[in-house]
Amino acid sequence: MLAGRRILLIIGGGIAGYKVLETIRRLKDAGASVTPVMTRAAEEFVTPLSVAALAGSRVYRNLFDLTDEAEMGHIELSRAADLVVVAPATADLMAKMAGGHADDLASTLLLATDKRVLAAPAMNVRMWDHPATRRNLSVLRGDGVLVVGPDEGPMACGEFGFGRMAEPEAIVAAVSAALAEGKLRGRHVLVTSGPTHEPIDPVRYIANRSSGAQGAALAAALRDLGARVTFVTGPASVPPPQGVTVIPVQTAREMEAAVRAALPADAAVFAAAVADWRVEDARDAKIKKDGSGRPPVLSLSENPDILKAVAGMRDGRPRLVVGFAAETGDVLAQATAKRQRKGCDWIVANDVSPETGIMGGSENAVTLITPDGAEAWPRMSKQAVARRLADRIALALGEPA
Ligand code: CTP
Repeated sequence: MLAGRRILLIIGGGIAGYKVLETIRRLKDAGASVTPVMTRAAEEFVTPLSVAALAGSRVYRNLFDLTDEAEMGHIELSRAADLVVVAPATADLMAKMAGGHADDLASTLLLATDKRVLAAPAMNVRMWDHPATRRNLSVLRGDGVLVVGPDEGPMACGEFGFGRMAEPEAIVAAVSAALAEGKLRGRHVLVTSGPTHEPIDPVRYIANRSSGAQGAALAAALRDLGARVTFVTGPASVPPPQGVTVIPVQTAREMEAAVRAALPADAAVFAAAVADWRVEDARDAKIKKDGSGRPPVLSLSENPDILKAVAGMRDGRPRLVVGFAAETGDVLAQATAKRQRKGCDWIVANDVSPETGIMGGSENAVTLITPDGAEAWPRMSKQAVARRLADRIALALGEPA
């Protein structure tokens, strides 16, 4: 996916430097070329030799290296890349970036570049929480710098909290997203996914067999086209993709609130298998057998129909509202009627009869129903369905904003 893409990798001086080697390896495996630049402090944590060996490129270290200037000046170096990645982005490097300093090769390249910059911060939790770092972060975000991580967890310095550099896998996903073709750049797309859990009591709930795989694949495909994706997900068995804003919810009502809070959006895709009903009087304490042999009676009430509510919005309706229809018989007729009933623009219909193996499986066979008619797509992986649907969404929304 990163074939032929050129990454200028600026390595700051932090203990997270050891993860940079793995990040370089993964970027190379994905087909990217990596030109490394190391600060003086970075060399205390990883050796230029190992960086050069993994990157398959010389390491640039010194602003005043005349050979560099003869071969490739610092301005050219900063431009001859598709993306500049800063990892680890230390507190000091972030402060320099925010302040526009240019007192070494790394900071000069960051000031001179005309390319997008992706920073992977890594520092002690107190440094991360310090008002100065918060300020710098918001300045950098305002300048259009993309940020991946940091993660929460135990740190090399013995403390616990936010400040660990994002894992190499997450950095590579963020690089892919940043280098996306851009058909959806500037667009905000909302995706719901997964099942919902409707509590019966604190330990039991009503659920369904949705794995969340199709929704997650779709969010990743939209991200790869450059969209800003808000991913509202019930408790799915498939992890959410990197590089999207994840809003985890449990119940249909929580999902509805999260969807409303995430609007406005250019497009909204409702891939979640929302429970139609919830237990009217979910108990606060675990329901016990009362010895009578009679099971408890659960009365159900209907959940809000999130898709229908959003499709019917008068103000702020996303330009494109896409629903899914999971049917077990007469798929086309049911889904066509559902499109009308819900007021959405498109319905992605699929047959989830157990013999199809679709629900919880890795493949999907869908029919896309639009105002222009029905298109049956051949059976393919859920990733392929996602990419095709993301392409169609990009086409429907038109030229990037
Ligand atoms: N949906 C929703 N909110 C609900 C129920 C469904 O947003 N409370 C959305 C789903 O995410 C999906 C579409 O509506 O995009 C269709 O869901 P489906 O369960 O197939 O439809 P139902 O409305 O439940 O219709 P029926 O039970 O009659 O098949």
